[in-house]
Amino acid sequence: MFYPEEIVEEVRSRNNIVDVISGYVKMQKRGSNYFGLCPFHNEKSPSFSVSPDKQMYYCFGCGAGGNVITFVMEYENYSFKEALESLADRVGMELPKEEESKEARAHAELRVTLLKINKLAANYFYFQLKQPQGKQGYDYLTGRKLSDETIRRFGLGFANKTSNDLYLYLKSKNYSDQVLAQTGLVTVEERGSHDKFWNRVMFPIMDVNNRVIGFGGRVMGDGTPKYLNSPETRLFDKSRNLYGLNYARTSREKYMLVCEGYMDVIALHQAGFTNAVASLGTAFTSQHGMILKRYTDQVILTYDSDGAGVKAALRAIPILKDVGISCKVLNMKPYKDPDEFIKNLGAEAFRERIEKARNSFLFEIDVLKQEFNFEDPEQKTGFYNRVAEKLLSFSDALERDNYIQAVSKEYLINYQDLKQLVNRLSLRISPVAEAAMERRPETVLREKKKEKEDGVKRSQRLLLTWLIENPLLFDKIEGIITPEDFRDQLYHQVAQMVFDGHKTGDLNPAGILNRFINDEVQYKEVAGLFNASLREELNPEEQRKAFSEIVKKVKKNSLDEASRRAADIGQLQKIIQAQNELKNLNL
Ligand code: UTP
Ligand code: MN
Repeated sequence: MFYPEEIVEEVRSRNNIVDVISGYVKMQKRGSNYFGLCPFHNEKSPSFSVSPDKQMYYCFGCGAGGNVITFVMEYENYSFKEALESLADRVGMELPKEEESKEARAHAELRVTLLKINKLAANYFYFQLKQPQGKQGYDYLTGRKLSDETIRRFGLGFANKTSNDLYLYLKSKNYSDQVLAQTGLVTVEERGSHDKFWNRVMFPIMDVNNRVIGFGGRVMGDGTPKYLNSPETRLFDKSRNLYGLNYARTSREKYMLVCEGYMDVIALHQAGFTNAVASLGTAFTSQHGMILKRYTDQVILTYDSDGAGVKAALRAIPILKDVGISCKVLNMKPYKDPDEFIKNLGAEAFRERIEKARNSFLFEIDVLKQEFNFEDPEQKTGFYNRVAEKLLSFSDALERDNYIQAVSKEYLINYQDLKQLVNRLSLRISPVAEAAMERRPETVLREKKKEKEDGVKRSQRLLLTWLIENPLLFDKIEGIITPEDFRDQLYHQVAQMVFDGHKTGDLNPAGILNRFINDEVQYKEVAGLFNASLREELNPEEQRKAFSEIVKKVKKNSLDEASRRAADIGQLQKIIQAQNELKNLNL
């Protein structure tokens, strides 16, 4: 981290979280908190809350939570440093410059310069498109049924036939060859530098913040390569960017459409499907998946209907599943891609196809089926076995049964027979699958243990939340609960800070969270810690009981663990005594 902790804390405390988030989310005050629609997942009723007291936000729907800095990081897709700078800027605070290493500063400055140059280039291409020398490009785009509005919205442009005009233009803006060489837009050579893109229509590629990070250029007609793309640069990382996401992120649709190409995204947006994105000429990566997961948990794959498109879909499905996105596959036939489909059948027909999109598992089975010849009984049996194997991948018994039902219905396989086949296979394949199938005692035991762990963690979480909400409760637990009773390592660390904060009269949840800001997993968990759901509907007497129960539970677990670790009989006796006292405890 470049900035010292005090500076980070100052930036945080000078930016009131309610003011900042109000700029992004419409909120209403309810009780002591503000509520609005969560910007990190799609929802109809507000479960996103902002607490002015804690200076934190938390979504009871998707679990997103944090302080004002993490909010800006997540919403704007900023790095920690970018978020800090924008918040410092917001309150007119000057950040110290010396803290930054020379190298880091040079790196950041180069990024800013490259962004400026890309923007200049995009404007230059756009301008060319509207000039006489750009007519061929303009005709090409309008010939593909793009409106002027669409051309403007996506900033489409034209790289003309002169081989170095962009280079000269950028030179005229006083950029050095050394910098220009890093843009990927020009090739700098002693004998004369020239433009990379030449006689092509240009598609600027924007990141989620509408900054131009690269370009794709298409030949007008046939020719290779069909699309020429910017090389990966300091700014442009194909596996982390999705074309169209800058617009799709604000679409109100529950799902995203993922397609293959520039023209597909543009045609879809023009037809009103502003939730379409594409992974640019590269396979869909798990990074893409994680980025999408910020905005949605449902995807409809609208890949090309050819063999390559099917393959791409088969690869994307498990990636999406892994990040927790459920997905369906749209049938584009008889057209090749969304662009052609919409041109021929229109937006309404496309919407119907969306409605009918195929469940991804059944899609996989459809594809699998094509490998087998059903005239041949042996092959038919082979197909059933493969289907049964695939069905085993569902570890949840109920879900698996739903799929067994669906498959037996779709493929006219007797339900009981298929179920038996799956059961038999499970015995052969793996002990894990077997246990899941039969719910053998070990699994039940394992699940019980997990439940218990969760219950204990939950109590620790609730106790911390209550103490923060109502510091008077500290008096009640004095001499009973110490930070050491929070057995989970992370919880213990946080509890220590909460107890210390209370002692010094400076209990500051958002500030505590700051200390975990460099570790995404930890800060999310800590943010969740301070926001366990509070039983507001309880009356005071019920609250007192609930609090007392939770204190006992936390202490009991702590003592139980201590007794397992006790080193000698004396220690053990003390623990047993404490355990007995706990039984009679009345708070
Ligand atoms: P397609 O070949 O399916 O092209 O490539 P398309 O999107 O249908 O384009 P049009 O309609 O013919 O203009 C899909 C995507 O793969 C990348 C591009 O991102 C393209 O949009 N691609 C394709 C390349 O990067 N280079 C190529 O030479 C071809
Ligand atoms: Mn196409």
